[in-house]
Amino acid sequence: MKKGAVWLATATVAASLVVAGCGDDENSTSGGGGSSTADSGGDVGKVAVLLPDSKSSVRWETYDRPLLKAAFQDAGVEAEIQNAEGDKATQQQQAEQAITNGAKVILLVNLDSGSGAAIAANAKSQGVKVIDYDRLTLDTDANDYYVSFDNEKVGQLQGQGLVDCIGDKADAQIAVLNGSPTDNNATLFKNGYDSVINPKFDAGEWTEVDDQSVPDWDNQKALTIFEQMLQKADNKVDGVLAANDGLGNAAISALKQRKLPQIPVTGQDATLEGLQNIVNGDQCMTVYKAIEKEANAAAELAIALAKGKEPTVETVPIDNGTHEVPSVLETPVSVTKDNISEYFGNPDFPTKEDICAGEVAAKCDELGL
Ligand code: BGC
Repeated sequence: MKKGAVWLATATVAASLVVAGCGDDENSTSGGGGSSTADSGGDVGKVAVLLPDSKSSVRWETYDRPLLKAAFQDAGVEAEIQNAEGDKATQQQQAEQAITNGAKVILLVNLDSGSGAAIAANAKSQGVKVIDYDRLTLDTDANDYYVSFDNEKVGQLQGQGLVDCIGDKADAQIAVLNGSPTDNNATLFKNGYDSVINPKFDAGEWTEVDDQSVPDWDNQKALTIFEQMLQKADNKVDGVLAANDGLGNAAISALKQRKLPQIPVTGQDATLEGLQNIVNGDQCMTVYKAIEKEANAAAELAIALAKGKEPTVETVPIDNGTHEVPSVLETPVSVTKDNISEYFGNPDFPTKEDICAGEVAAKCDELGL
């Protein structure tokens, strides 16, 4: 309550400074009824959501945006959702503009820890709370919360998925496509899958063809990198540890271009493309992260903070190098052609109709989907 009073004071100043600036984002959404809601009876701050891009994964625009929008709308809290399209300067400006427009809470998917820390520090200096959404910002004391999945577990599922799909094939030649070197999640995914696949390399059961990070999770760059890997390996690659569905699809495209046979390829995000690749036999697994849970957990925290309340959500401490950030971590699951049907109907999972459309229909029939 005391804290709330402090924010309220800052809110009033900020709001009176810039009243006109809001509403210039086409994606603005309001709970209808302005900044005060019946629910709290008091002033409710605005929330700004800063998404990273729309190309490194379709998840951000396909699931995160609409699910977050719905969560804030349901609570009658005004939220402005913006996408920086991979540009750090743009994200910085979006954050500044949001604060100017009266945001009291920022939900941030950083583009790297340095730019994320700068956004958080600026927010903190103006009494604005920051929730790291999906990606932890390292080495700053200005992030208040972190909501994500158990990302090492994501990596373990990918590693185990590859092990299961390769089976007992002798001397399997494995290529590794890591996520962006500037995304802390990519480091955690790698820690997870390395813990499963490195023992295979060490025991001489598998050989590592190459292991490279894909800057910005850029699928086009992944295609070039994987083509070079194929070149280097004389096309002898028996499996690909790809850190998400986009990178996996880049590898699959390169294999198809060279008319090479299907091999196990991993992924993440349970995207429509990834799931169709699985049904077609081009991809062996993906990791499904229930984004609705992540979005709702983040929204719950943001809504409490926007109302000047102390959140009651249960958290675990995660060290970001500077302090222990109270965190909520959801649980990821592995999806293969054998269990895909368990997730049909989930709000953050592509529908069976979409997956089994067009040319994929016959394959779905074969699998009894
Ligand atoms: C997210 C993944 C996503 C990747 C690329 C990661 O930080 O956790 O879900 O595929 O970024 O956008």
